[in-house]
Amino acid sequence: MERSVPVIALCLLSLGLMRSEGFEVEIKDASNHTCIRASLMANFTVQYETNTSTSKKANFSAPPSVTTTGSSCDGESPLLVVHFGDSLSWSLNFTRNDTVYSGSVLTFTYNTNDTTFFPDALPQGLLSSSTKFLDSIPLNRTYKCIHDEVLSSGNVTQHIWNVTLQAFVQNDTFGQEVSCDADKPTPAPTPVPTPTPTHAPTTTPNATVPIPTSKPLDKPSIGNYSVFNTSGKCLLASMGLQLNASSRIGSVGVYNINPITTNASGTCGNETATLKLTDTSVVIEFYFAIRKSKFYLQEVNVTLTNGSASSSVLNQNLSLWEASVGNSYLCRKEQVIVVSEDLRVNTFEVRVQPFGVRDETYATAEECIADTDLSFLIPIAVGTVLVFLIILVLISYLIGRRKSRTGYQSV
Ligand SMILES: *[C@@H]1O[C@H](CO)[C@@H](O)[C@H](O)[C@H]1NC(C)=O
Ligand SMILES: *[C@@H]1O[C@H](CO)[C@@H](O)[C@H](O)[C@H]1NC(C)=O
Ligand SMILES: *[C@@H]1O[C@H](CO)[C@@H](O)[C@H](O)[C@H]1NC(C)=O
Ligand SMILES: *[C@@H]1O[C@H](CO)[C@@H](O)[C@H](O)[C@H]1NC(C)=O
Ligand SMILES: *[C@@H]1O[C@H](CO)[C@@H](O)[C@H](O)[C@H]1NC(C)=O
Ligand SMILES: *[C@@H]1O[C@H](CO)[C@@H](O)[C@H](O)[C@H]1NC(C)=O
Ligand SMILES: *[C@@H]1O[C@H](CO)[C@@H](O)[C@H](O)[C@H]1NC(C)=O
Ligand SMILES: *[C@@H]1O[C@H](CO)[C@@H](O)[C@H](O)[C@H]1NC(C)=O
Ligand SMILES: *[C@@H]1O[C@H](CO)[C@@H](O)[C@H](O)[C@H]1NC(C)=O
Ligand SMILES: *[C@@H]1O[C@H](CO)[C@@H](O)[C@H](O)[C@H]1NC(C)=O
Ligand SMILES: *[C@@H]1O[C@H](CO)[C@@H](O)[C@H](O)[C@H]1NC(C)=O
Ligand SMILES: *[C@@H]1O[C@H](CO)[C@@H](O)[C@H](O)[C@H]1NC(C)=O
Repeated sequence: MERSVPVIALCLLSLGLMRSEGFEVEIKDASNHTCIRASLMANFTVQYETNTSTSKKANFSAPPSVTTTGSSCDGESPLLVVHFGDSLSWSLNFTRNDTVYSGSVLTFTYNTNDTTFFPDALPQGLLSSSTKFLDSIPLNRTYKCIHDEVLSSGNVTQHIWNVTLQAFVQNDTFGQEVSCDADKPTPAPTPVPTPTPTHAPTTTPNATVPIPTSKPLDKPSIGNYSVFNTSGKCLLASMGLQLNASSRIGSVGVYNINPITTNASGTCGNETATLKLTDTSVVIEFYFAIRKSKFYLQEVNVTLTNGSASSSVLNQNLSLWEASVGNSYLCRKEQVIVVSEDLRVNTFEVRVQPFGVRDETYATAEECIADTDLSFLIPIAVGTVLVFLIILVLISYLIGRRKSRTGYQSV
């Protein structure tokens, strides 16, 4: 018994060391009054060039001990500068008007000369990446966001979470918290994963089409795809596919997969199945897996080829398109698969059956929740309300009648 104590203590210690601690800072003016208070956790991914002309990715977390040299409490635009050691820093300046304050520019600066953070990096010295962070917080209130916010710009992706932040603090009094949208309870669960709200980078990519709210492009055509094994079709899929890539992928914009020029191949296993769709310059691979006798889409890998250059983007942690093994999955509504922050796949009229295909046709369809949408609930709700109203009227009528009867009697 006694012997297990140090083991547990050691486990706790290593857990504590591994967890990202985040940092907490307060910036004060000349008369020792706080103007900015911030506490947050952050992870950074930086893509950098190496001396072998390939690029690498570095990952690091904001450490608990930081310095704030360079910060200032200038009344109109206070500045928060946080240094993580000598070669990384994070700065955010603020603006305000009469009612709200906002972050102006969030800049992450890194020194590629530091090979402890950037192994094999070309010594390019200081590089930085700027984005927008924090919008319109009421004055004298504290911004609070537990959820992860993803800020992506240039070669830097920042994940920021568990944020408590207030600028323009008055009288050293911290205001009541206002939650970010992501922390607010959602009214109803949606089956389609909504991407983490990212703030538009302030660096404007050259020659990008402004992204309009309405879809500029037609819906993609629906393609029928199948994978064969020795006994015939073993995987069936039909869907329309549309890629939505941001500037960092190299090709900007929205692109429809043309079923006519797309070849399907893949594999059928007992536990996993893959569907590989090859269009002229795009390869999309779907990996299906089984969990508790249900299949689901676990992974999507998109490879874009432009001339001799190609880049793959993949998400291996999906949990979409779920249905019982032996059935097929059906979703008529448009869905968005977030492969990365820079690449989304919009899917239309999806029907898939990766396992247990018999007679080369789809088995019973299990429809997505998006299809069996809430519109059918509206007549039910209206009906319920009507019935309730009728009952209410009846009751009040009966009570009214009884009252008036007793009224007559008392006269
Ligand atoms: C500022 O205030 C803190 C306590 O709030 C105190 O410990 C510190 O000595 C003060 N510094 C100066 C320069 O007045
Ligand atoms: C914040 O800093 C950026 C440069 O880092 C500057 O362009 C911007 O004008 C500043 N914003 C305010 C409100 O001072
Ligand atoms: C980085 O290294 C290069 C060459 O080694 C040097 O010219 C440059 O001044 C360094 N920059 C910084 C910020 O250390
Ligand atoms: C990102 O890094 C690549 C090299 O890895 C460089 O060519 C490119 O200019 C960088 N982009 C930005 C926006 O810094
Ligand atoms: C969030 O930050 C607070 C300090 O502001 C800390 O006490 C808490 O443990 C953090 N929560 C998580 C989940 O990291
Ligand atoms: C700060 O103090 C001043 C004067 O003491 C007061 O008028 C003001 O309302 C206070 N502001 C806040 C946010 O408490
Ligand atoms: C795909 O298959 C469905 C029936 O399974 C058929 O109605 C449709 O015409 C086919 N589409 C193409 C493009 O072959
Ligand atoms: C493409 O993705 C961006 C976000 O990265 C989104 O704002 C835009 O609406 C998407 N466009 C289409 C056509 O899906
Ligand atoms: C391919 O790369 C060239 C040059 O890098 C660029 O001009 C072109 O837009 C790219 N095409 C696509 C479809 O991304
Ligand atoms: C797959 O399942 C079939 C029939 O259930 C079985 O005969 C075969 O050995 C299985 N293959 C593997 C690799 O498990
Ligand atoms: C993603 O697809 C590309 C092209 O098919 C392939 O080369 C790469 O190995 C795939 N990546 C993974 C992790 O499956
Ligand atoms: C995969 O997603 C689940 C929840 O969607 C999350 O808890 C887990 O950390 C993710 N794993 C990786 C490796 O991203």
